[in-house]
This record gives sequence, C-alpha cells and structure tokens, in this order.
Amino acid sequence: MSSRFEKKILVTGGAGFIGSNFVLHEIEYSDNTVVNLDCLTYAGNLMSLEPVRNNPRHIFIKGDIADQELVGSILKEHQPWAVVNFAAESHVDRSISSPESFITTNVLGTLHLLEQVFHYWEQAPESVRTEFRFLHVSTDEVYGSLGNDDEPFHEKTPYDPRSPYSASKAASDHLVNAFRHTYALPAIVTNCSNNYGPRQFPEKLIPLLIMNALDGKPLPIYGNGLNVRDWLYVDDHCAALHLLLERSGPGENFNLGGRCEKTNLEVVEAVCDMLDTFCPQSPYRPHKSLITFVKDRPGHDLRYAINISKISREFGWKPRETFETGLEKTIKWYLANQSWVNSVKTGKYRDWVLHHYGWE
Ligand code: NAD
Ligand code: TYD
Repeated sequence: MSSRFEKKILVTGGAGFIGSNFVLHEIEYSDNTVVNLDCLTYAGNLMSLEPVRNNPRHIFIKGDIADQELVGSILKEHQPWAVVNFAAESHVDRSISSPESFITTNVLGTLHLLEQVFHYWEQAPESVRTEFRFLHVSTDEVYGSLGNDDEPFHEKTPYDPRSPYSASKAASDHLVNAFRHTYALPAIVTNCSNNYGPRQFPEKLIPLLIMNALDGKPLPIYGNGLNVRDWLYVDDHCAALHLLLERSGPGENFNLGGRCEKTNLEVVEAVCDMLDTFCPQSPYRPHKSLITFVKDRPGHDLRYAINISKISREFGWKPRETFETGLEKTIKWYLANQSWVNSVKTGKYRDWVLHHYGWE
C-alpha cells in the first residue's frame, strides 16, 4: 500500500469521458499519482489524456478490468490506497441494440475487479485496510423513471432499472454493496445524473448536438423532446468524487446531481442559441432550424431528478456551475479542440450513426 508520501490511486476507464476529466482533475488538484487502466473501447480516447501524456504522476495501462491476472499484478505493483471504477459500457441506445457487452463489462467486469480488489485489501496491513476505499461510479438511471410531479430520487429510493444499461449498472451496484456487506470491503457507491462537458463522446446528447450543429447536420430529438434529465457539469462531478474519496467513511451511498432539470427541447434550444452567438459567421444560423424530431427511444425514461441533500449536508458540496456557465465552457472547449473532435469521427463512430439514425 502506498504511503501518504507517494499516494497512488487506480482509476479504471480513465480514457473515457468522466474518467479522463477525473484523471486531469486529480493531477491538477491532488498529490495522487494516477494509475489508469482502460481497454480503449470505441469510447476510450488517449487524446483526452494528452495534457498528462508526459506527466510522471500518470501511468496508463491498456487492459480490461475483467482480466484478473492483470488487475492483480497492477494492485500488487502499485499498492493504491483507492480504486475508482469508471470502466463501463455507458450508452443507453447501444444497450438497446446490443446488450451483451453491457453484461460482460458492467456486471462480470465489475465482479472480477471486485474479487481482485478484495484479495488485495484483505492481505494489506490493518492500518492501510482502514484507509482503503473502492469508489464505484454509477448512475441515477438505476432508480427508474419519474413522473413530472414525483419527488426526486434519494439514496433510499428502491432500484427500478428499465434499460439494459441501467439494469447492468444496477447489478454492478448490487455487487459492490454485496462485497461491502459480506466481506466488509470499504466501498462507496455514487449515483449521478447526466454529465456534460469537455471530452464527451458525441453519441451522447450534448456533444452530438454541438458537433452536428457545427457541421450543419440534423439535431435529432427523440419523441416530443419533453423527457427531462438533470444535468451536472463534469468537473463538478469530479470534485464531488474527490471529496468523497478523501472524506467519506466506507459503506456509504451518495446521490450526485446538478439541481438542474431540463427537457431535451430546452437543452437543444440552449445549445443552438449559444452557437448562434459564438459562431456569428456560421452558414447554419439560426441553428434551431436544424432541430429534427425522430423516432422515440424504446422504453424512453420520462424523467430523472436527484436529491443531493446528503452530500450537501455532510460535506458542503454543491455544483459550482450553472447550466449556462457549464454549457458555455463545454461549447468553447469543442470549438477550440478540433483535433480531438476529428479524432472521434472515426469509422466506428460513423458506423453507429448510419446504423442508429440511418444517416450517412
Ligand atoms: P464512457 O463510455 O465515456 O467511458 C468508459 C470508459 O471505460 C472508456 O474509456 C472505455 O474504453 C473504458 N472501458 C470500457 N470497458 C472496459 C473494460 N472492460 N476494462 C477497462 N476499461 C473499459 O463513460 P462515461 O460517460 O465516462 O461514464 C463513466 C462511468 O460513469 C460509467 O460507469 C457510467 O455508468 C457512469 N456515469 C456516467 C454518466 C454520464 O452522464 N456519462 C452519469 C452517471 C454515471
Ligand atoms: P443521453 O445523452 O443518451 O443520456 P441518457 O439516455 O443516459 O439520459 O440522452 C439524454 C436525453 O437525450 C435522453 O432523454 C435521450 C435524448 N436524446 C435525443 O433526444 N436524441 C439523441 O440523439 C440522443 C443521443 C439522446
């Protein structure tokens, strides 16, 4: 186990959207060295880690969380004081088209990771066993769907997942809780609402809207656009995870969110208005003219909303960004990072667009 002088954490899925932002956050704001294990699926992008490429406090390892031999050897070599698990298949629409990889990674992968982490923790000296944390990053989608007048999800809301994605994340949360209760593994589970910000793969709503709008392509809105999501700027999520890693006792669940409910129509209109302002020369202004209503997602959850009183009360955390300030930062990042944007416009991503929307 690393001493406090050479603190190491193992981050899984650290080349994805939230994981890469978390790695950058840790390098900037903590003294942790980050060992980053990611198998680089279509959603993993090393360009997102470019700012820390030559930083000795970032060690990237290409590999699968389900590879027990590899994970066991990483834990043995680096002796992290915490493991933060972001690795997952994360896109609801892909889980509807093809659920199996969601079970393989989110359920079996998490189980294999837990087994290795437990083995490592069990053999550590008592003093470091007390300090160790396994932080599992999950979603509010495990709670199911709310009506427009329902109370937001809280930590005791019963799980009711309704898509293959949320079912697989719910299963992974249950496994983490089971390791906590059965084997006393010091684990924390966080359930967070929709994130947005730099480095998000453009299969998710906000980067899809930005990138399509810049190219003058249709802005696809499922159904009537009245589904509601709560939006949290990714850096605020990273700050909450860091805080919990440092300060939460083991065995806790926390809900995280932005106190920012929006219909998808409100989101697309906000993106279009900001692009009109930031790109006055664009031939596609007003960008709202690109909005296109398309067939609804099967089983589309109507509304997610999340009560964040527990983390606010216990640790004083609240989101720093409003939707307006967070969206401005996000759009400016996509405008300034064309090489990243081009790097994700790969063959694989184009295949998905053709398969899912029927667009070239
Ligand atoms: P993402 O799809 O952008 O990134 C996932 C990363 O995990 C990729 O880099 C991928 O290569 C890696 N990965 C996938 N399978 C792996 C495996 N078997 N072994 C090692 N690495 C693997 O996802 P994200 O949006 O950054 O989400 C990260 C986590 O946060 C997920 O667990 C997700 O369920 C959760 N979450 C996401 C949101 C959101 O709005 N994006 C909200 C709440 C919770
Ligand atoms: P998404 O970013 O896929 O996140 P999640 O499904 O995990 O909430 O979608 C956010 C919302 O945007 C969701 O209600 C589905 C909707 N949506 C569209 O209307 N059009 C799209 O092309 C996509 C990808 C999502």
